[in-house]
Amino acid sequence: MSTVVIVGTQWGDEGKGKIVDVLTEKADVVARYQGGNNAGHTVVINNEKYILHLIPSGILHKGKKCIIGNGVVIDPAALLAEMDGLKEKGINIDHNLLVSKNAHVIMPYHMAIEKENENKKGNKKIGTTGRGIGPSYADKIARNGIRMMDLLSPEVFREKLSSNLSMVNFLLENLYKAAPLNADEIYNQYMHYADRLANYIADTDAIINNELDMKKNILCEGAQGTLLDIDHGTYPFVTSSNTIAGGACTGLGIGPTKINKVLGIVKAYTTRVGEGPFPTELKDELGETIRRKGGEFGATTGRPRRCGWLDVLILKHAIRINGLTGLALTKLDILDGFDTLKICVGYKYKGTLYEDFPKEMEVLANCEPVYVKVKGWKESTVGIKEFDKLPDNAKKYIKKIEKMLKTKVQIISTGQKRDEIIILKEQF
Ligand code: GDP
Ligand code: IMO
Ligand code: MG
Repeated sequence: MSTVVIVGTQWGDEGKGKIVDVLTEKADVVARYQGGNNAGHTVVINNEKYILHLIPSGILHKGKKCIIGNGVVIDPAALLAEMDGLKEKGINIDHNLLVSKNAHVIMPYHMAIEKENENKKGNKKIGTTGRGIGPSYADKIARNGIRMMDLLSPEVFREKLSSNLSMVNFLLENLYKAAPLNADEIYNQYMHYADRLANYIADTDAIINNELDMKKNILCEGAQGTLLDIDHGTYPFVTSSNTIAGGACTGLGIGPTKINKVLGIVKAYTTRVGEGPFPTELKDELGETIRRKGGEFGATTGRPRRCGWLDVLILKHAIRINGLTGLALTKLDILDGFDTLKICVGYKYKGTLYEDFPKEMEVLANCEPVYVKVKGWKESTVGIKEFDKLPDNAKKYIKKIEKMLKTKVQIISTGQKRDEIIILKEQF
């Protein structure tokens, strides 16, 4: 019996979905603990591509309990569309999917406010996914939020909606000079969602703790990545939740003593979507090559991802903040064919050399990365399943990362598909 947390170590899109899918085979429960449909987790099985936004990536295995925890913010329309999409592909969700009563609901006004906010910020915008994530978490913290269980009590829902809309419409009309929203329309729309979702809404913290008591294997699926964490990321260019491993405790209602392993997902290079500093970004032809080879376009918004070299300062930060017990290195195959690879080991800024990830955005945005060069490999690594079969220089690249980070690479992903993987250490 074990509880394993999967967490992104960079700015998201590290390949968490694929690793969760692989590890689900030995899990009993898979649970998402934060974020919302800003996430896009891709799983490829037999040439069929699935993109999960809210539903845990474990849903693609038969008979696994999949939980959307209290820490997630839920757009009911997006959840229903995702459920319908899975059903159309023959995936049975009816007996497996559970949604926390306490999870907060994303309302149409969250999206409206976010849009106006981003427009108002102009070139200082965050570059959000536009899914209403920030305003929804803001309402949660301000204690104005509407929770999934409120959808099941029409009176309570109507009252909260009216009270929130009176404030929101004032803002929309007077501050943003935008059209107000209609309470009746939203009420009717959300009551329709409530009808369809009622059977899935449950006391998920009680359920997951029962599973723990029964000594089941629990896989906690993080969204986004460490550098998008609201407390430990590149604030303000972050998302609005605790994406780090600690978020699994608050976002699911399980105690820290119940967590056994934290696996950090590391892309073999670095990507970022949206605005904000990115020291190792390649704004040249090389960056374009990595984007093209790696298919680096957002799984949620389709935006091109910014690409750059691997950054050890970021990874050391992720190891500390998450207490990582091991790493899963993904997309190694995308680095096939390069003469030389670079790894960032420091930042130079105004005569100072930083070897630890700095907190100041000013440093991050204006520093010059210090690189070590390593030899690339010409052979293809696509689909390799044994470490010994990797090209020598690929092995050296991995060993070098392990040595710099003093943390073991326990899984290596060599392609999009489920079986394109090297497992060096089992997690369950
Ligand atoms: P997530 O948000 O962390 O789940 O990652 P995304 O799904 O947004 O982006 C990762 C992309 O890389 C997806 O298209 C995956 O199918 C793909 N991917 C994952 N692992 C590998 C790998 O080892 N090699 C290749 N070529 N693609 C991978
Ligand atoms: P997964 O789970 C990459 C980024 C957005 C933006 C910032 C804030 O697929 O790794 P938000 O809409 O959350 O308020 O946007 O965070 N972002 C992601 N980037 N992968 C994600 O999720 C992301 N979710 C949000 O691009 O910069
Ligand atoms: Mg993604």
